[in-house]
Amino acid sequence: MGSLPRVPGTIIAVKARQVLDSRGNPTVEAEVLTTSSVGRASVPSGASTGTHEAVELRDGDEKRFHGKGVLKAVHNVNEKIGPRLKGLDSGDQQKIDRLMIGLDGTANKGKIGANAILAVSMASARAAANSEPKSLFSHLREARNYTLPVPMMNVINGGEHAGNELAIQEFLIEPVGAKSCTEAIRMGSEVYQSLKSVLISKYGRSAINVGDEGGFAPPLRMTRDALSALAEAIHKSGHGGKVRMGVDAAASTFYDEKSEHYRIDGKELKSDRLEDYYVSLKDEYDLLTIEDPFHEEAFDAFASLTKRVGRGTQVIGDDIYVTNVKRMRKGIEKEATNAVLIKLNQIGTVSETEEAIELAQKAKWSVAVSHRSGETEDPFIAHLATAFASEFIKTGAPARGERVAKYNELLRIEEELGSKALYAGRKF
Ligand code: PGA
Ligand code: ZN
Repeated sequence: MGSLPRVPGTIIAVKARQVLDSRGNPTVEAEVLTTSSVGRASVPSGASTGTHEAVELRDGDEKRFHGKGVLKAVHNVNEKIGPRLKGLDSGDQQKIDRLMIGLDGTANKGKIGANAILAVSMASARAAANSEPKSLFSHLREARNYTLPVPMMNVINGGEHAGNELAIQEFLIEPVGAKSCTEAIRMGSEVYQSLKSVLISKYGRSAINVGDEGGFAPPLRMTRDALSALAEAIHKSGHGGKVRMGVDAAASTFYDEKSEHYRIDGKELKSDRLEDYYVSLKDEYDLLTIEDPFHEEAFDAFASLTKRVGRGTQVIGDDIYVTNVKRMRKGIEKEATNAVLIKLNQIGTVSETEEAIELAQKAKWSVAVSHRSGETEDPFIAHLATAFASEFIKTGAPARGERVAKYNELLRIEEELGSKALYAGRKF
């Protein structure tokens, strides 16, 4: 008797391990082995996390990694998830994800751990793509043409990502005027190098130490000083008019709940004064994007700003939505924003992330697929952004290996697509 026919892409084994992220903290890496392929993936970790995010399971054992170990999550992959996935088709993403969601049984994936679940979800997608074999982006979504995203490069780091006094977490450059993603990455890199010399000449060499996402972390306090340095760097690099600017305020991190004030630039501002401040910054610096301008429950404040600037500016919701369709539906209803940030690990599976993107696109919102401040070398999001034609990808400065891994993958994807590659910058 011969053995049963081996259907390609059928899951044989699932294995996880503890690896390090870009901040030197543990994270989960998973491997899905099928009858015809292997898929590996690892998950990132945020610092300015939203309250409503799916839960990262950490060991809490202070003797190892200061309590940040993920051996429980690894165990959950190896002992709880793995055995249940054996025999499934690695390409049946919905089924795999739903099975894990059911196994966890909580609303926030806190029992098995969103880090455990997401690692397997992503590794299954990769295993399925490798089994076809196909590039990951075309496995995620089959299309005739693909649109590559505008890189939002975080070149000045503040907030919880840096050891300086800037309240605003991210100062971004966005090369919308490039002809391709490849050219956009070149422009971004050139502005980054110009910024380096601008910062040295203004503030000395210590100003070019970098923060968690590879952006410079100059010893500044005032938002306008950072934006002015950026504007100067864009001009100096010769890309004036082609490279726009944006900010991610991550405003929950400088909001004081008790006094209901925002602490920024040495001032304490009420919501309406902060709104006026954003409008003046937008006018002065022609900001293309403003992310998380208010704290994560301030739907009405978001809506008020969107009403004032939303015609020409993308008001992006990150911590307010946490890639969760329930919270996004509330945002759509209230017209809180006209754009959303999408992070796989805020929700914890590939299929729920895709659902969030599709909901945003139905509402005619712009989509920005994003990394986390704690990252790995996994370039999964470059494929996700390409597959779903997101307008933007936010993945740090064009520096530090874990950031560059995503930009380099976009270079490869655009090369592979050749004339079938479009560039989202033309929309702006
Ligand atoms: P985080 O920051 O990964 O630390 O949450 C990224 C962001 O706020 O966009
Ligand atoms: Zn953000």
